[in-house]
Amino acid sequence: MKELNSLLSEKGQTHILQGFDSLPAERQSEFIAEIENIDWDVLALWKHPEDLSGKGRVEPIEGLSLQQIEERKGEYFAIGAEAIMAGKVACVLLAGGQGTRLGSDAPKGAYNIGLTHPLFIFEMQIRNLLAACEAAGAPVPLFIMTSDKNDAETRAFLKEHAYFGYPESHIRFFRQEMAPSVDFTGKLFLEDRGKLSLSPNGNGGWYSSLKRSGADLDFPAIEWYNVYGVDNVLQKSADPIFIGAVIASGMNSGAKVVRKTEPHEKVGVLCLENGQPSVIEYYELTEEMAAMKGNDGNLAYSFGVILNYLLSAKKLAEIAKERIPVHVVKKKIPHIDAQGAYIKPEKENGYKFETLILDMIRLMDSCLPFEVVREREFAPIKNKEGIDSVETARILLQKNGVDL
Ligand code: UTP
Repeated sequence: MKELNSLLSEKGQTHILQGFDSLPAERQSEFIAEIENIDWDVLALWKHPEDLSGKGRVEPIEGLSLQQIEERKGEYFAIGAEAIMAGKVACVLLAGGQGTRLGSDAPKGAYNIGLTHPLFIFEMQIRNLLAACEAAGAPVPLFIMTSDKNDAETRAFLKEHAYFGYPESHIRFFRQEMAPSVDFTGKLFLEDRGKLSLSPNGNGGWYSSLKRSGADLDFPAIEWYNVYGVDNVLQKSADPIFIGAVIASGMNSGAKVVRKTEPHEKVGVLCLENGQPSVIEYYELTEEMAAMKGNDGNLAYSFGVILNYLLSAKKLAEIAKERIPVHVVKKKIPHIDAQGAYIKPEKENGYKFETLILDMIRLMDSCLPFEVVREREFAPIKNKEGIDSVETARILLQKNGVDL
């Protein structure tokens, strides 16, 4: 205990011991274990959250345009479908996020977007996946990443809805890791006395968490992981044409991309950085780069990523030990105050520490940008209202003939 006290006082975090002495012995040891787990180097990053750690030489990347895909569609489909039939492709649905912007405490996938009847985000995801599997001729293993915050609820919800028709034999859940959060002065937040406020550590840890769970061992033929976010209700996962195109390219990964609508659109862009594929954020593009045109008259940096990647299992195993950068993200973080009262903030009040899957792309060495039609494949639900919201997604779903 003495050591713990001096560690916390060295780190300026003794406030988290509030009420510690009155906790039952079991809670005390759980709390000590939580504290021992803290990566203090990561926590220290709160001091320079806007540090973009310097970009290398950035250049546009070549990708497959809609027209090029259309020309070889049949060939790509055959390659992709064959890989699916051979059990070489698995899906990873990233559903560990907290969806704080949407403002619902339930798992985001359990959000009902229907108007005249219930239609859940998970339901749309599985409906689209089933369509791809039916076209290819076999179901793919579906790994669903959850976090401590929503694991039980996610499992119960999907079970209650009979997995929306997906074969249970092909579904596995795994949990991601959690990380502490701090206020704007770097002080750790408590969720309760003797309990750190922990939140999911970002979607960049999906591979290590999947491996730790061992869930992949049930499907030894996997060569490709199609990894995607839960919140795009037009997401086309296990798309045989995309899979076939990436396999045919001989590259280690592929990313579905949409053309940017205007130079300053707030979307991460796939490009080359020091010759490696890389996703850079919209605010990292200079004015000149954002507006630059390529030979085809399109914006040179126009491939916006939509969080749908295909990654080689072999390459992932090779890079498993590499560290990816930790992002310091402003969020609304519920916590207890010095008096022990529970606070659910209305505004962002601190930082979380997250790794992001987009930072894995650079480590993959090669990545094929694969253009898709935005109106058919991109309807993200991030916010309750306004941009990328339930409203905008509903309009896009209706345009695609989905009965709401
Ligand atoms: P977002 O970056 O939109 O984060 O996640 P979020 O947590 O869902 O939402 P906000 O920012 O709190 O409003 C993009 C995708 O990555 C998953 C999400 O579930 C979503 O599919 N994700 C995010 C995880 O699986 N784990 C995480 O720790 C973070």
